[in-house]
Amino acid sequence: MDLFEHQARELFEEHGIPVPRAEVTDSPKEARGIARRLGGRVVVKAQVKTGGRGKAGGVKLAADPAAAELTARQIIGMDIKGHTVGTVMLAEPVDIESEFYVGYVLDRAAGRFLAIASAEGGMEIEEVAARRPQAVARVHIDPAEGVTTARAAEIAEAAGLPPQTVDVLVRLWNVLVREDAVLVEVNPLVRTARGQILALDGKVTLDDNAQFRQARWGDQQAAHDDPLEAAAAAKGLNYVKLDGEVGVIGNGAGLVMSTLDVVAGCGARPANFLDIGGGASAQVMADGLSVVLSDPAVKSVLVNVFGGITACDAVADGIVRALETVRVTKPLVVRLDGNNAARGRAILDGRAHPLVQQATTMDGAARRAAQLADAT
Ligand SMILES: Nc1ncnc2c1ncn2[C@@H]1O[C@H](COP(=O)(O)OP(=O)(O)OP(=O)(O)O)[C@@H](O)[C@H]1O
Ligand SMILES: [Mg+2]
Repeated sequence: MDLFEHQARELFEEHGIPVPRAEVTDSPKEARGIARRLGGRVVVKAQVKTGGRGKAGGVKLAADPAAAELTARQIIGMDIKGHTVGTVMLAEPVDIESEFYVGYVLDRAAGRFLAIASAEGGMEIEEVAARRPQAVARVHIDPAEGVTTARAAEIAEAAGLPPQTVDVLVRLWNVLVREDAVLVEVNPLVRTARGQILALDGKVTLDDNAQFRQARWGDQQAAHDDPLEAAAAAKGLNYVKLDGEVGVIGNGAGLVMSTLDVVAGCGARPANFLDIGGGASAQVMADGLSVVLSDPAVKSVLVNVFGGITACDAVADGIVRALETVRVTKPLVVRLDGNNAARGRAILDGRAHPLVQQATTMDGAARRAAQLADAT
């Protein structure tokens, strides 16, 4: 689970990482009072669990308490990449001299953690890494050894960060370990004109497997940030929202992952990952279709099923029954292959739904779905 910036800030503060004074509210009126307490001038920041808030107009400087109220009124309720802003954090403005990036992330492939640091913070680290890879230091961390002062000094040195950041690097590692996070990131970590080091923004992703010992976040941890993901989770579906326009339904995580790649290979973008698993019943198919079709970004849907233990005729029956209960509003391309594929296809042909067409290969099906998405 991702934490909000203000929650990350709270954890940083508890672990002794210097942060600016700040308060959170969902009320513009209260924002005025908070600004007054913080000295008048404040930075008003949208609290949403997505990046690029600044660019989207979700981070603004307000000159006085009245402006803070007005700005909070503008930002609360705003949509940032599909996330509605519910609260804002008002923070004391800081006189920035330089902006750095520091973070730790789990590197599953290496079986280690990776420290990423750069003296060019503030903007998206992916952009810096693409433009000037030599400006981004990457140091692997042995999880048993952790980040000692010596290791932190090595990271700071590799990234060209000032020596005062060493202490923050050690404390940030403590946040990762003690709070059971798989990612902690500070962008920007700044040096102020007076030489003070401060974390101005924070991102923390907790390890969901450690939920049982992080009671503090309670039910929140189970909560899904995306409304479609929440609806899918309520139906017990393995669904992940993505940014594209081709809805994808398949059986088996591996096949669905490959389907996403093939859709991307056809020049379209998948709108979601949805694995309906083996033995996909009519109910599961109906639930899956209804979630995928309720995504307003979806323009076509690709159903890709390889019958193994699950027979394609059973899947086709499921689709036919799903078509009775779900109002299909967008074109569906179905590719059935494997166990009892011919029977499955015959069942769908028999139903002859005007919005459902079949393809015999995965590539052909993806190409068709991409064309349909492009045409609508
Ligand atoms: N308290 C502050 N005082 C002065 N400037 C700030 C403060 N907080 C943020 N800023 C400035 O605004 C920029 C953007 O802020 P921040 O990093 O929090 O948002 P963001 O990067 O746009 O959002 P996200 O991290 O979600 O992409 C910072 O790089 C910094 O220059
Ligand atoms: Mg940031």
